[in-house]
Amino acid sequence: MFEFYRGKRVLVTGGCGFLGGYLCEELVNAGAKVSVIDNFASGTRENLDFLKGSVQIIEGDLRDINVAVRHLAGYEVVFNLAGIAFGVAFSNIHNAEMFYSNTTIQLNVLEACRINRTGRVLMVSSSCVYPDDAPIPTPELPVFTGNPESVNSGYGWAKRVGELAATYYHENYQMDIAICRPFNPYGGRYLWHGMNSHVIPMLVKKVLDGDNPLVVWGSGEQSRNFIHAKDAVRLMMLILENRTDARPVNLGFDNDIKVCDLVKTILEVSGKSPKVVFDTEKPEGRKRKSADATFLQDTVGNYTPEMPLEEGIRDMIQWYDRNKQAGTFAKWA
Ligand SMILES: NC(=O)c1ccc[n+]([C@@H]2O[C@H](COP(=O)([O-])OP(=O)(O)OC[C@H]3O[C@@H](n4cnc5c(N)ncnc54)[C@H](O)[C@@H]3O)[C@@H](O)[C@H]2O)c1
Repeated sequence: MFEFYRGKRVLVTGGCGFLGGYLCEELVNAGAKVSVIDNFASGTRENLDFLKGSVQIIEGDLRDINVAVRHLAGYEVVFNLAGIAFGVAFSNIHNAEMFYSNTTIQLNVLEACRINRTGRVLMVSSSCVYPDDAPIPTPELPVFTGNPESVNSGYGWAKRVGELAATYYHENYQMDIAICRPFNPYGGRYLWHGMNSHVIPMLVKKVLDGDNPLVVWGSGEQSRNFIHAKDAVRLMMLILENRTDARPVNLGFDNDIKVCDLVKTILEVSGKSPKVVFDTEKPEGRKRKSADATFLQDTVGNYTPEMPLEEGIRDMIQWYDRNKQAGTFAKWA
């Protein structure tokens, strides 16, 4: 399916992170020559140990334009995944850091790709660019007016600026740029960030750590659509292959599930049965999030996700168990 990438020199920024590990694996399987640049802010070298010998890892901080220009030389394809992307508990109170780091990285990567004449660039944006009152399912709305998702506003604004810059670079320099807006990717190889983790990993961790009562943020009535990381990165590869006109593409489907039902699924799959308490004092974000996938399917040619939610949660539970036993989580807890 990914013949396009065979033999290509590909750089994945932020490749030592959660999605980066999945993307590097798919690219190596497709026969690409893969390099990664990462400053290990949240990702780790060890996250790519399973690909040792197949991926070159460069240490570098992409907030520095000189680092970006120097290390982005010589690639035909760049996937820009580097960024600060934690759960709502962190985003909600670190708007300045989320805005500064994510904006700077994206601007530097685009400028470095221009200078180095990179063939194609994928900018990984986010569904957080959409406003709180976006229609459900959400189509690829223009997002340069009004406010992004309120609990993620620093992050959402940064992703909007990245998208805007990408359209300017495409128009002014005729660069081939793709933009995707992922909706809630999840899966094994997640790097836990304690209370700052995303919703599925946070719940899996609490359940497997034996929290009783199990405290769930918000009413449980809020709903989200999730996509397994394996499907998410395959879609990134297809989007970059098929649409480089800087038009954003949703990366997700119209299959949202209420958080209370998600909790039930995690408990069923894990075989645990703690008392469940919904803490309505805690932020729960938008009531519903779900993607209109029409434009995505037009772009990639009707992709069917491989990983159903239950199987994806089993994958995440096994990953958590394995690493907990190996003591790997000490540095992430
Ligand atoms: N995980 C999600 O729910 C989600 C949702 C939508 C969009 N995204 C986007 O997808 C991308 C990847 O997310 P992820 O979940 O894999 O996050 P992650 O934190 O696991 O990975 C991000 C990687 O970027 C690296 N990084 C951070 N700052 C850097 C810098 N200054 N220079 C170089 N490397 C740096 C980190 O060390 C990490 O390895 C991000 O751009 C994120 O905004 C993620």
